[in-house]
Amino acid sequence: MERTLIILKPDAVQRGLMGRILSRFEDKGLVLVAARFRKLDESLLAQHYKDHEGKPFYAGLVRFMGESPVLVMVLEGVEAITVCRKMMGKTFGRDAEGGTIRGDFGVSRSYNLIHGSDSPEAAQREIALFFDADEVIEWQPAGHKWVYDAEDLG
Ligand code: RTP
Ligand code: MG
Repeated sequence: MERTLIILKPDAVQRGLMGRILSRFEDKGLVLVAARFRKLDESLLAQHYKDHEGKPFYAGLVRFMGESPVLVMVLEGVEAITVCRKMMGKTFGRDAEGGTIRGDFGVSRSYNLIHGSDSPEAAQREIALFFDADEVIEWQPAGHKWVYDAEDLG
């Protein structure tokens, strides 16, 4: 089982898309193990986006991400990082394939609805940035054994 940090960005929140996006992950078999609805301040955003500091889009990105509350979540599943990135689609909505979250709900470059960790190292760092260890809940939905078979679980 792998965990990934997902943020439903200000545009997803303001456009009333939180439920529909979360439903896609639930339908796929990903399990919500932590969640917090909050506004992100500049210092937290600077830590989260430290790898993008100095890039032309950095200032706009930090401004946008702090403009409205966001839904920060940890999702768990087999290969959760790759599975979620595939479901999100390419970075810019107009490049993203139909059937993906960005492809179905957006056309913008910066307003692309969702963030997802892009590697196990990033996931570990990002989860620790937003949640204390005891805020990530170990649990399994009742139907879990019909979502993953023994081979999936290694
Ligand atoms: P994310 O980190 O949000 O999951 O997105 P990503 O990996 O697909 O994209 P990344 O390259 O990490 O960029 C982070 C976020 O910065 C904004 N961006 N805007 N206007 C631009 O050229 C531009 N480039 C990047 C997007 O909001 C992107 O998700
Ligand atoms: Mg990224």
